Amino acid sequence: MPTVRGKIIEPLYTARQIDERNHQMAAEIAKQPNKDLLVIAILKGSFIFAADLIRALHDVGLAPEVEFITLSSYGTGTVSQGVRIVKDIDSDVKGRSVLLIDDILESGRTLKFAKELLYERGASDVSIAVLLDKRVKRKENLEADFVGFECPDYFVVGYGMDVAYAFRELPFVGVVTGDSSADT
Ligand code: IMP
Ligand code: MG
Repeated sequence: MPTVRGKIIEPLYTARQIDERNHQMAAEIAKQPNKDLLVIAILKGSFIFAADLIRALHDVGLAPEVEFITLSSYGTGTVSQGVRIVKDIDSDVKGRSVLLIDDILESGRTLKFAKELLYERGASDVSIAVLLDKRVKRKENLEADFVGFECPDYFVVGYGMDVAYAFRELPFVGVVTGDSSADT
């Protein structure tokens, strides 16, 4: 079992599985009628997934423009009450076909906020690609158009995702299952 800085991390999706799925998703995205895409990656969690998916889009012949938005949930304790923009995109989205990329779709608050924001700003079409869909946690009526994997209700880390700022660098998605006494 991989041990990283004193934690046992059980792989849920390997780097190879993710890579294969990213290329399948890119092929699905390329079937959409609008080829002139503006990709907006939601930071921070999606940065590795977005980088890989965007290169997979290149492999299937698409040349998206790329933007980033940093969003943050706020609320009391662990109860999320809303979403705010920490750092906004620079581009005008009026009339654009947007593909939002995020790591996990959970309650749906983050992506619902982002989708509504872009429509308010005049985007002609907004679709959503997520690596993981944690469907059991959904609070909003929102679905992603492209899903990498259906995710069981575990707190996952790696491949851009963190727990307390750690483990974003792992090349796979895993679950922290415990502490290791023999860490190397
Ligand atoms: P939502 O607004 O509840 O859909 O929140 C989704 C966001 O919460 C994701 O973009 C992640 O940043 C974060 N998140 C949700 N579940 C996890 C997890 O298991 N590991 C790491 N981050 C998570
Ligand atoms: Mg996030």
